[in-house]
Amino acid sequence: MCGIIGYIGKSEATGILLRGLKDLEYRGYDSGGIAVLDKKRLSVAKAKGEIRNLKKKLDGYEIRGCLGIGHTRWATHGKANEINAHPHCSKHFAVVHNGIIENYKEIRESLAMSGIAFESETDTEVIPKLLELNFNGDVLEAIRKTVKLLEGSYALGIICTDKEDTLYCTKKASPLIIGAGNGENFIASDINPLLHYTNRAVYLEDGETAEISAHKIRVFDRDFKETDKEIKTIALNKNAADKGEYRHFMLKEIYEEPVVVRSSLNAVTEDGEPVFSDIPFTEADFKALNRVYIVGCGSAYHVGLIAKYNFEKIAKIPAFAEYAGEFRYADPVIDGNCLVIIISQSGETADSLAALKLAKEMGAKTISIVNVPESTIANRSDYNILTLAGAEVAVATTKAFSCQLAVLNTLCLYTARKRNACTEVFSEIAVNMSQLLPKKIERVIAKADELHALAKELKGITRCFFLGRNVDFGVSLEGALKLKEISYIDCVGYPASELKHGTISLIEKNTVCIGLISNGDLLPKTVSNLVEVAARGARVIVFAPESLAGDLEQFETVITYPDSIPLLTPSIEVIPLQLLAYYVADEKGLPIDKPRNLAKSVTVE
Ligand code: M6R
Repeated sequence: MCGIIGYIGKSEATGILLRGLKDLEYRGYDSGGIAVLDKKRLSVAKAKGEIRNLKKKLDGYEIRGCLGIGHTRWATHGKANEINAHPHCSKHFAVVHNGIIENYKEIRESLAMSGIAFESETDTEVIPKLLELNFNGDVLEAIRKTVKLLEGSYALGIICTDKEDTLYCTKKASPLIIGAGNGENFIASDINPLLHYTNRAVYLEDGETAEISAHKIRVFDRDFKETDKEIKTIALNKNAADKGEYRHFMLKEIYEEPVVVRSSLNAVTEDGEPVFSDIPFTEADFKALNRVYIVGCGSAYHVGLIAKYNFEKIAKIPAFAEYAGEFRYADPVIDGNCLVIIISQSGETADSLAALKLAKEMGAKTISIVNVPESTIANRSDYNILTLAGAEVAVATTKAFSCQLAVLNTLCLYTARKRNACTEVFSEIAVNMSQLLPKKIERVIAKADELHALAKELKGITRCFFLGRNVDFGVSLEGALKLKEISYIDCVGYPASELKHGTISLIEKNTVCIGLISNGDLLPKTVSNLVEVAARGARVIVFAPESLAGDLEQFETVITYPDSIPLLTPSIEVIPLQLLAYYVADEKGLPIDKPRNLAKSVTVE
C-alpha cells in the first residue's frame, strides 16, 4: 500500500508534502517521512506512526526547499519503525516507493557482495542503491537501468542532489498521477492531495517515467522515448473530509447512509425501472450469459456473496462470489459469455485490479462497481457503475458497502429483466421497495442507543460467532469483519448449519453467538442451530425483521429492524451490525477510524 507525494515549484515543499501525506494516510499509517532538496542539500525527516507524529517532530525545525518527496507507509518488509520509514537514500538519491520489489533479496545479496551496506530491512532500499550504482550524471539513464532490474510493483518518486530543479517518477502496477499546476507540479498516489492545487492531471501508464520541472512535464514510454500525454481535466471537487459533529468518521459515515444509498439508487433507477445508461451490452448479450462472477476483497467480497444468491434466485443465472486474490490465481473457466463484476470502494485494490485484468484477457464482459471516479478499476472495466457514497475515510467500510449492495441488487434486477427471468411487475415492485430503503435505514440508526447499550455488555468478550444462512451468511461475514477489524475481538461468520461440524467445540458458557435471520422461510432452520449453541451455554443475540419477532421469543436478546422484501433485507440488516461494531470499539477506547495494522486501500497483493 503506502502513499507517495512529490512537489516541485516556487513554494516551500515541506507544508505541501505534509498536507498531501495527511490526505494519503488512508493508504497506511505505520510511518511517515519526507526528503526536501535545497541547493544540493538534502534534508530527510521521518517518524513512526501517523503523519501527525512527523508534523510534531518537524515543529520548530525549518526544512527549506521547493523540491521534495514524501511517503506514508503500510509496512510490508520490515517492522513499522523509523529506520524502515521512507524516503530511503543513497549518496545522490532519495526515493519513496509504493509497491513491492519481489526480487529485492536477490538484488540485496548481489549489492552486499559488492560491499554496499543497507540500513533498513525494506525491499525499497535496493532502489536508491541501484540508482547510485547506475548513475553517471544522467538520472533518466540511471532510472532506466534500475527499473530494468526490478520485479514486482512500484510507483516511485525520486529526487537527485545533482538535479535541484527536477522531480522524477516512474511506475509499474501501482498508481501514480502527475498534477499539472501553474509554475508548480506534483506527483501523488491518488488525485485527492492534488485537488488542493490543480484539477489538471496526467495519468502515467505502467512502464512510463516522467521528468518534471516547475514548468514542464516530460513523459517517456517503456523504451524511454519521449511521448505525448494528455492532460486531463478532473471534474472532482476537493471534498475536504471533515468529521463535523461526530467523534469518528465511521459514525458519520453510518449516519450518511440513508442519503448516499438514495443518491446511488437514484442514479441507476428511473420510473420504477433499473437503468444503466450507455451500458455496452445488448439484451442478446445478457441472454447469452452463462455465468456471473462477482469478485472483490473484504467487505466488497461480502457484497458479492449476498448478491450471488439473488442473481441465482432472481436472474436465474449461475453466480459465484470470489475473493479477488483467489480468483486471479485459480484458472477460472471464463469465456465471452461470462460477466465478471468487480466491486471495490477504492477502485485501486491490487487483487481486484488483477482479477479484472485476467477477466478481460479471457474475454469476459466486465462491469465494475466503484466509489472513486478516475480510479484504475473504474477506468479499465468495460462499464463502471459509480456508487455515490462520497469520500469514505474510516478504514472500516460502511456507507460504500451499502451503496455497492443497493446498486448491485439493481443490476441483478436489470439482468433478470433482460433475460426475461423475472416479470416487469416483480422488478417494478422491487425498485419501488428499494426507494424505501433510506427511510428504513434511518429507522435502524434511530436505534443507536439500544445498540450502544448492547455494546457495553459485549465490550469484554474475546470471541464472537455470527451465524446465518443464505444471504444472512454473507451478512454474517460482514458483521464479523466489522466487529473484528475495529474491536480486535476474534469474530467469525459461519453458515448457521456448519458450526456443528467441528467449530461448536469452541462454544463455552457465555460465548456470544449472533444469529441473523432475515427471512421467515429459513427461520426454523437457523433457530434450531441457535438452540444447539444455546444448549451448550452460548449467549445468543438475534437480529431479525420486526415481523419475525413473535417467532423468536425464546431468545433473551432480539434486535429488530424494519421489514422489506428478501432481495433488499440485507441492506437493512447490516446497519445494526455496523453500529454495534462501532460502539463496542468505542467502549474499548480503540482508534476506530485507523485500526492497527490496516490501511483503507490495499494496493499490494
Ligand atoms: O477498496 P476496496 O473496496 O477494494 O477494499 C476492499 C477491502 O480492502 C475492504 O472492504 C476492507 O475489507 C475493509 N476494511 C472492510 O471494512
